[in-house]
Amino acid sequence: MSLLITGIGSLVTNDPGLGEGPLGLLRDAAVVVDGDRVAWVGAAPAAPAADESFDAAGRALLPGFVDSHAHLVFAGDRTAEFNARMSGQAYSAGGIRTTVAATRAATDAELDANLARFVAEALRQGTTTIECKSGYGLTVADEARALRIASAHTPETTYLGAHVVAPEFADDPAGYVDLVTGEMLDACAPHARWVDVFCERGAFDGDQARAVLTAGAKRGLVPRVHANQLGHGPGVQLAVELGAASADHCTHLTDEDVAALAGSDTVATLLPGAEFSTRAAYPDARRLIDAGAAVALSTDCNPGSSFTSSMAFCIAVAVREMGMTPDEAVHAATAVGARALRRTDVGVVTPGARADLLLLDAPSHVHLAYRPGVPLTAAVWRAGVRAV
Ligand code: NIG
Ligand code: FE
Repeated sequence: MSLLITGIGSLVTNDPGLGEGPLGLLRDAAVVVDGDRVAWVGAAPAAPAADESFDAAGRALLPGFVDSHAHLVFAGDRTAEFNARMSGQAYSAGGIRTTVAATRAATDAELDANLARFVAEALRQGTTTIECKSGYGLTVADEARALRIASAHTPETTYLGAHVVAPEFADDPAGYVDLVTGEMLDACAPHARWVDVFCERGAFDGDQARAVLTAGAKRGLVPRVHANQLGHGPGVQLAVELGAASADHCTHLTDEDVAALAGSDTVATLLPGAEFSTRAAYPDARRLIDAGAAVALSTDCNPGSSFTSSMAFCIAVAVREMGMTPDEAVHAATAVGARALRRTDVGVVTPGARADLLLLDAPSHVHLAYRPGVPLTAAVWRAGVRAV
């Protein structure tokens, strides 16, 4: 079954060969979807016929968002902690243990239903690819079940046994790293594509993070790193040295960190929801882009530091607070997010790509930043299937 989407006022292809600028922008465009793939992209008058057609009525079409950083297997929430923070208390990684306790106490069915709800919530807002980390179990069985549950919803699963030291190992962090790099890794590797570590004061130091990432890499998991969120540290340099797909947060960077990212294939994934929800200073996207680093935007959706699933919100904040242009932010939330997941089939609207499409109730993708907080989703197709 093929579908012709015509009357597209403004189309973001993210292929400079297809249209104007880095977004490969086309006006008065059409897209033909065949099965789960994009079959044709071009000027509306030149479009071939298809089995069905859909009139976009002058609105903007872009690739579905690629949210390359989320923590969605958990139970409970942390409203009280958020409330306390908004009354002046500082954020600390220690709150993670509250969610660990609630998650361990939940049944598989509860965790699966929660995750399904968040994936659906994200989809309604245009997110068609989402990464999902473990990290709220912190035992062999609980981490493995988190990844098993996650892998039923997305192929982008990340082993984050090294989120914080499990409470049982409070006096023996080295013992916990042994577990994470040993028995826990054995149980989790079959369900994960990526390995991640929270490299931060209060979580894991540079040596521990290196041990976790290299052990994961030996099992075929590709590294990504929570780096330099709460302060300066070795996370970014380690990510670049180990060829990680992404260094995430990148809030506190030295000139050397910026240069290392710029000279590497490691994407700097910025997570403005975390700074918003912890009342912290935002990362400087402009500095990274001007230095030549690849910058992605993601939600970091989790119950502690960033309880948003809205990529549009992240785009708006990144434009207002982090020095990004609307074009750069939309590119970061789609094509560069795909790069952070080493995917070439999503984040673009090009022949052969997966037909993941977001139609906005707006004439241009710029409205994602220009109209903050306004639900602009008109329609979403995921793998060619109308989902919203
Ligand atoms: O990405 N940094 C570590 N993990 C999350 C926070 C998780 C939590 O507070 O529950 C983050 O911000
Ligand atoms: Fe995170």
